[in-house]
Amino acid sequence: MTKFLTTTSVIALALAGAVTAARAADVKEVQMLHWWTSGGEAAALNVLKGDLAKEGFAWKDVPVAGGGGDAAMTALKAMVAAGTYPTASQMLGYTVLDYAAAGVMGDLTETAVKEGWDKSVPAALQKFSVYDGKWVAAPVNVHSVNWLWINKAVMDKIGGTEPKSFEDLIALLEKAKAAGVIPLALGGQNWQEATMFDSIVLSTGGPEFYKKAFNELDEDSLKSDTMKKSFDNLGQIIKYVDPNFSGRDWNLATAMVIKGDALVQVMGDWAKGEFVAAKKTPDTDFLCYRFPGTDGSVIYNSDMFGMFNVPDDQKAAQVALATATLSKSFQSAFNVVKGSVPARTDVPDTDFDACGKKGIADLKAANDGGTLFGSLAQGYGAPPAVANAYKDVVTKFVHGQITSSDQAVEELVKAIDDAK
Ligand code: GAL
Repeated sequence: MTKFLTTTSVIALALAGAVTAARAADVKEVQMLHWWTSGGEAAALNVLKGDLAKEGFAWKDVPVAGGGGDAAMTALKAMVAAGTYPTASQMLGYTVLDYAAAGVMGDLTETAVKEGWDKSVPAALQKFSVYDGKWVAAPVNVHSVNWLWINKAVMDKIGGTEPKSFEDLIALLEKAKAAGVIPLALGGQNWQEATMFDSIVLSTGGPEFYKKAFNELDEDSLKSDTMKKSFDNLGQIIKYVDPNFSGRDWNLATAMVIKGDALVQVMGDWAKGEFVAAKKTPDTDFLCYRFPGTDGSVIYNSDMFGMFNVPDDQKAAQVALATATLSKSFQSAFNVVKGSVPARTDVPDTDFDACGKKGIADLKAANDGGTLFGSLAQGYGAPPAVANAYKDVVTKFVHGQITSSDQAVEELVKAIDDAK
């Protein structure tokens, strides 16, 4: 009997020890690669760091500056090639699918089922966070790119009203110019220019055209007169930037609008995160309008935390991160600060400002009405190689290396074809 008890006790102790050892070995740290380095972005990230700290997870930051994330994605590629995966990385759309196809992503399906993500996350996001039936990423938000961000005081000073057509917008920019204000705040970097061009194409050609050209890569649409007209419009609008726009970071362009040095920026709603960080209020300090001619449609992107196939001792941290990210309270608190809207359909809009409430309502309407389209500039229209080819052609046009809309269309068709 004594012997039996002893043996049992030994086994019990050994088992308890093993469990303790496994628990102790769990890495209580989240290593996150991201490009959220502006004031508004950092403030939003702090919400997540705070939530994880409450659960006892340390934050190991891997920031790679550069809006749009091209530099971050180069850094990620190097890490993955070296086999040193972060717990998670900020990623956009098709990039998630590329890494999943390469077999380096983890599997969060168990957490997803437990948390009911398939019911709360919109299908447009599931398309990019589920691969081969497995959840490989946790969507953080939904951003939308077809917005104008306007300084209200400047707008009042020049007697401007909401532009309802592209021609109205040009007339408004003229007014600002005549008043001695920089009309258009733009950072001359390829991703910013292409993000603005997404809106111009939707405005010029309408929803069906945008979808065919930039989501389906339909060649007839890409080489059409409508695409040519879109480049004509781009050529017109960039006449209103200041001479120092080349290479400027997007948040510095936003700061020009916040300070009243410029009238308007055409940018995704991460720009609103900068207004919020500067303690500015919609309708009092700034105005958010849909890019003229795009009302009723939403061009979206969503930041996802791509979850890699990390060693077992890091899986608990990954689950904690994913669970925190998709919790309803985080979805509200984070997106209020970030300028985006929730990646779940069941989060109340109570805490959002007027632009956020509009963003949530617009997303729902576009989703219901079939006018929700992936941003080609932001990795949701086509795989990265195509998006890069697109950004390259747009920036060459903006900076004068392509000299006509005819040539731009020709090069766009060829570049996309080569990249496919
Ligand atoms: C986008 C991203 C946003 C914001 C922006 C500027 O690609 O989705 O969250 O970070 O870049 O950095």
